[in-house]
Amino acid sequence: MRILALESSCDEFAGAVVEDGRRVLSSVVASQVDLHGRYGGVVPELAGREHLRSLVPVLEATLEQAGQRWEGIDAVAVTQGPGLGGSLLVGINAAKALAWARGLPCLPVHHIEGHLYANWLEAALEAHGGRPPSFPLVCLVVSGGHTELLLMHGHGQFERLGQTLDDAAGEAFDKVGRLLGLPFPGGPAVERAAQEAVAGASAAGPSVAGKALPRAWLAGSDDFSFSGIKTAVLNRVRDDLGGALSAADVSALAREFQESMVDVLSRKTADAALAQGAREVIVAGGVAANGALRRALAERCPVPLRVPPAALCTDNAAMIGGAAYFKAQGEIEEGNWDLFSTSGAAVFSAGGR
Ligand code: KG4
Ligand code: ZN
Repeated sequence: MRILALESSCDEFAGAVVEDGRRVLSSVVASQVDLHGRYGGVVPELAGREHLRSLVPVLEATLEQAGQRWEGIDAVAVTQGPGLGGSLLVGINAAKALAWARGLPCLPVHHIEGHLYANWLEAALEAHGGRPPSFPLVCLVVSGGHTELLLMHGHGQFERLGQTLDDAAGEAFDKVGRLLGLPFPGGPAVERAAQEAVAGASAAGPSVAGKALPRAWLAGSDDFSFSGIKTAVLNRVRDDLGGALSAADVSALAREFQESMVDVLSRKTADAALAQGAREVIVAGGVAANGALRRALAERCPVPLRVPPAALCTDNAAMIGGAAYFKAQGEIEEGNWDLFSTSGAAVFSAGGR
């Protein structure tokens, strides 16, 4: 079964053709980093308008790279939510119109469910001898808007173990990146700056900027909190360093912040895997592209770990096409949209067609 999928929940407009939930025949992502970079964050109104411009070129490239014509497509899938309203509407309206015009089913996919199903795509399975993940799984979701620990009993069967009580992990990376004067988006920029600190670490011990930052463990629960670490970085910049940061301060602070995030995320995930008797751990979302997080999870998880290749961690449409396949097979039950912290997901009921 060949599914043409669209993803437009935030500042990327993406298209993909995915065969049988695994084989990615094409994956095209139109990024808006340059557009939003000058504002230091995503401007929702601009994102939606830019999606309208990207729509036709991305669709054409998606079909062309897949070597397909519409006759070869069996269904259309689209991110239903959560995300920015104006951005989501572009993808949803396009998917509904295409499905209606071609007489195809239109499959709505929850964005986070999509992120998780990146772990079933061929490029992710390669590192595991082609074997799909074995249930029950503990899932760590770390994106710009979500941070959650889930227990996945089977396809489409999720139980939430914990979530962030305030900021998402990606949001914390982005805000700290801004505090440190790094370019948008903050996550990859913080990772790069932290690498420079590792390379240039001095034998004389940590500087003021490089002293360890706190960790919010929230002991006894699977929840997270990341607003405190953000404030700790702000206080160090403003009070301890008087607002003037050298390049070495920026990289030392980036490293300590990343260390704190990675420590909490990896230890709590490993503890949950043990407590729940999970057979494997899967990770999903943009922050899963972070090398330090990947290494710490690999070291600490008591069971096999799966993290998709970095390009499948950040927003893309292949993951939506993957999740939609299992939905089309009846392996994902309808009606679990309330499971995640879904602002807006239920509003856009794409339904059949
Ligand atoms: O999943 P995603 O592409 O979009 C959402 O659904 O939110 O995640 C985007 C988030 C941003 O906060 C971005 O800064 C973060 O993922 N991110 C990273 C890295 N790459 C992307 N955070 C840390 N390290 C990275 N290498
Ligand atoms: Zn995402």
